[in-house]
Amino acid sequence: MRRNPIAMKTHNAVFIAKSLDGYIADRSGGLDWLQAISNPNADDMGYAQFMEGIDAIVMGRNTFETVCSFGIEWPYWKPVYVLSRTLTTLDEAFRGKAELIQGSLAGVLEELHKKSYFRLYIDGGQTIQSFLREDRIDELTLTTLPVLLGGGSRLFADLPDTLLFTHVRTRIFLDEIVQSVYRRTREL
Ligand SMILES: NC(=O)c1ccc[n+]([C@@H]2O[C@H](COP(=O)([O-])OP(=O)(O)OC[C@H]3O[C@@H](n4cnc5c(N)ncnc54)[C@H](OP(=O)(O)O)[C@@H]3O)[C@@H](O)[C@H]2O)c1
Repeated sequence: MRRNPIAMKTHNAVFIAKSLDGYIADRSGGLDWLQAISNPNADDMGYAQFMEGIDAIVMGRNTFETVCSFGIEWPYWKPVYVLSRTLTTLDEAFRGKAELIQGSLAGVLEELHKKSYFRLYIDGGQTIQSFLREDRIDELTLTTLPVLLGGGSRLFADLPDTLLFTHVRTRIFLDEIVQSVYRRTREL
């Protein structure tokens, strides 16, 4: 069977930190728990290397607004596309940094592939869930901190089907934080 050359180039990857009970933000949207383990040498746990391997970022509006609320310099050096059904524009200040993108996931991906952005970082709980619902995630890098948040923003939600992944590797950082990479098992 001939494989679609575009499909072969596309890669949608998740790189996210989660609690033991599967939350990515606490009940008030807070991320303080990410600093719960002392990290004296500021180990980035593979983040910069992961970012080098992607062409663009697709993030949900909530994640975008959280990043904006940090009041820090824009932290991304790859183009960012913000998924939203409610926003109509992004502030002028984000020109050249982030753009709004709308429509079905198939349409969003087609638009990004036309711009030659094939390797995408998919970020934000609901956003990841919507990609998983359509089986559009190829790789998951899950960094688990030893904390039970007991509530908050969930990483995963119900899916229409079982999705099988293969374990690629697991690394342990600071003796406490477990990072596992999984690749979606697909029939070729
Ligand atoms: N632990 C970590 O590593 C990590 C990483 C990233 C984010 N976070 C945290 O997670 C929280 C955000 O996650 P979240 O679950 O709230 O969701 P999110 O995916 O960041 O944002 C959800 C919003 O994105 C838009 N959206 C998502 N999927 C869409 C689709 N298919 N089509 C159109 N719009 C879509 C919708 O915006 P509209 O309502 O405007 O339509 C939706 O309300 C924040 O607190 C953030 O700080 C944590």
